[in-house]
Amino acid sequence: DGGGLLYTSLGVLCCVLVLSVIAVVSIRFSVSGSPFPSSVSSVNSAAITIAELQKKVIAATLANPNPSRAIASDLSYYRNSSFTPIPRKSTLVRKDDKIEEGLARARAAIRKAAVAGNLSMNPGGIYRNAGAFYQSYKEMERKLKVYVYEDGDFILVHNGPCKDIYASEGRFISEMEYGNNKFRTRDPHSAHVYFMPFSVAWMVKFLYVPLSYNLAPLKQYVSDYVRLISTKYPFWNRTHGADHFMLSCHDWAPVTSKGNDFLYNTSIRVLCNANSSEGFNPQKDVSLPEIYLYNGVVSPKLQSPPPANISRPYLGFFAGGLHGHVRETLFDHWKEKDSQLRVYQQLPKDMDYPSEMLHSVFCLCPSGYEVASPRVVEAIYAECVPVMLSDHYVFPFSDVLNWEAFSLQVNISDIPRLKDILLAVPDDKYMKLKEGMRAVRKHFELNRPARRFDMFHMILHSIWLRRLNLRL
Ligand SMILES: *[C@@H]1O[C@H](CO)[C@@H](O)[C@H](O)[C@H]1NC(C)=O
Ligand SMILES: *[C@@H]1O[C@H](CO)[C@@H](O)[C@H](O)[C@H]1NC(C)=O
Ligand SMILES: *[C@@H]1O[C@H](CO)[C@@H](O)[C@H](O)[C@H]1NC(C)=O
Ligand SMILES: *[C@@H]1O[C@H](CO)[C@@H](O)[C@H](O)[C@H]1NC(C)=O
Ligand SMILES: *[C@@H]1O[C@H](CO)[C@@H](O)[C@H](O)[C@H]1NC(C)=O
Ligand SMILES: *[C@@H]1O[C@H](CO)[C@@H](O)[C@H](O)[C@H]1NC(C)=O
Ligand SMILES: *[C@@H]1O[C@H](CO)[C@@H](O)[C@H](O)[C@H]1NC(C)=O
Repeated sequence: DGGGLLYTSLGVLCCVLVLSVIAVVSIRFSVSGSPFPSSVSSVNSAAITIAELQKKVIAATLANPNPSRAIASDLSYYRNSSFTPIPRKSTLVRKDDKIEEGLARARAAIRKAAVAGNLSMNPGGIYRNAGAFYQSYKEMERKLKVYVYEDGDFILVHNGPCKDIYASEGRFISEMEYGNNKFRTRDPHSAHVYFMPFSVAWMVKFLYVPLSYNLAPLKQYVSDYVRLISTKYPFWNRTHGADHFMLSCHDWAPVTSKGNDFLYNTSIRVLCNANSSEGFNPQKDVSLPEIYLYNGVVSPKLQSPPPANISRPYLGFFAGGLHGHVRETLFDHWKEKDSQLRVYQQLPKDMDYPSEMLHSVFCLCPSGYEVASPRVVEAIYAECVPVMLSDHYVFPFSDVLNWEAFSLQVNISDIPRLKDILLAVPDDKYMKLKEGMRAVRKHFELNRPARRFDMFHMILHSIWLRRLNLRL
C-alpha cells in the first residue's frame, strides 16, 4: 500500500543517503558548531547553581514519594521558588497550567486503575501492574505531545542508523521525525517533552577519529547542541532539561551525554547501555532494547513466532566473542564442554544463529563489553528463554514489565552451576515462561508504520512515565 511504500523509501533515505554525504558532514558540523565558544560550560553561567538545584531536588524528593521527576512535573513548586528566570506571556502560563492539570488527571486515573486491574489483562503475568499500565498507555495515547527540535544538520541530527546493531536508535529517530505518528507536535508550547534528535552512533562514525580514544568531539557536539536550543528557546532553562530527552543505542552514549551536566544528571536519557553503576538512573533514564537488524530487517527465521511444537533438543545456547569478564567466566566453564549446554566463541560453519536459538530451551545472554545485548530480543523472538547473566543491567521497559515472567536471571557467581540451574527449572515454570515470551514479543517489535504497543510506543510510554513522575 501507499503508506508502506512511503515508509520503505524513508527507510532507504534513512539508511543509504547517509553514506553518500559523508564528505559534507565535517564542513556542516564546523558551521553548526562555530557560533558557540568551545570551552565555556553552560552550567557555570546558569541562573541557579547545581548545589542549589540539588537542594531543591532533595526538598521535592522529601515531599513526594515518587520524586524523580518532581522538578519537571510540579509547576507550583517552580512558582514558589526563584527557579523561573524566564518571563512568560500570560497565555503561555495558562497553557502550562493546562498541561500540568492534564498530567495530574492522568496520574489520578492511573492510580485508580492500579488497584482495579484484573487477571485476564495480564497474559503470562508480564506486567508489573496491568491495570496501571493499560490506563497509563491510554492516557499517553490521548495526551502525550512531543516536540522535536528542528535545529541541527541532517545526518548527525534528524537521522540515525536503521540497520545493524544500533538500529533501535535510527528507527526511533526516523519514526519520530518522518513517521505518521500523532504524538509529535509542531507547537512547543503544548509539548510535554522535548526531543533532541541527534544520533550518537553517527557522531561516532563521523566525528570520532578511529583509535584516538578521544570522545571530546562528541561531547562538544552535544554541549553545543544543548547550548543552541537553550539559548534560542525558553524550554530547556525552565526545567534545566528535565523534560527533555535524548535517545541512543551506542555504547558511548552515556559518556557523550556528559557533554552537558544537566543532560547527564537531569534529562531523560534513553540508552541501550543502561549500566546502573555507570550513571544510568532508572528513575529518570529509560533502558532501550538493542535490536540487530541485518540489512535492516529481523532475521527471516525469527520474523514470526515459532510453532508451539518446534523441537528443542538442546538445553542452552550461546555464541559470541570473548568480550568482558562475564563471558570470560562463561567460557572458562562451558566453552565447547557440554553437548546440551552449547557455548561457542565461534559458531561452527554448519550452524546458523537463529536456528540454534529456535532449537534450544534457554539462550544465554551474558553482558559483553557493555551490559546490553541484541540476543535478549532475538531470544524472545525465538521463544528461547533468555538467561540474563549481567550485573547492574537495568532491563528494558522494566518500569512496566515483570522480567521474571519471561526470562531467567542467574547470578554471575553461579555460572559454574549453570547447567544444574537450567535443568532444575520445573516444567510448569517453563510453560509459564513460554507464555510470557509469547505475550511480551509485541513490545519488542519494530514496525513500519509503528503499531500500538510495539517498541516505538513502549519507548514513548517509558518517557511518558518519567514525565508523569509515576512508578507503576
Ligand atoms: C538559558 O540560560 C542560559 C545560561 O544561563 C543563558 O545563556 C540563555 O540565554 C538562557 N536562555 C534563554 C532563552 O533565556
Ligand atoms: C513555598 O513558599 C512558602 C512561603 O514562602 C514556604 O513556606 C514553602 O516552604 C515553600 N514551598 C516550597 C516547596 O518551597
Ligand atoms: C478484565 O479485563 C478485560 C480486558 O481488558 C476486560 O475485557 C474484562 O471485562 C475485565 N473483566 C472484569 C471482571 O473487569
Ligand atoms: C552530576 O552528578 C555528578 C555526580 O553526582 C556531580 O558530580 C555533578 O556535579 C552533577 N552535575 C550537575 C550539573 O548536577
Ligand atoms: C507441529 O504441528 C504442525 C501442525 O499442527 C504439524 O504440521 C507439524 O508436523 C508439527 N511438527 C512437529 C515437529 O511435531
Ligand atoms: C557496568 O559498570 C561497572 C562500573 O563502571 C563496570 O565495572 C562494569 O564492567 C560495567 N558492566 C559492563 C557489562 O560493562
Ligand atoms: C550474587 O552472588 C554474590 C556472591 O555470592 C552475592 O554477594 C550477591 O548478593 C548475589 N546477587 C544476587 C542478586 O543474588
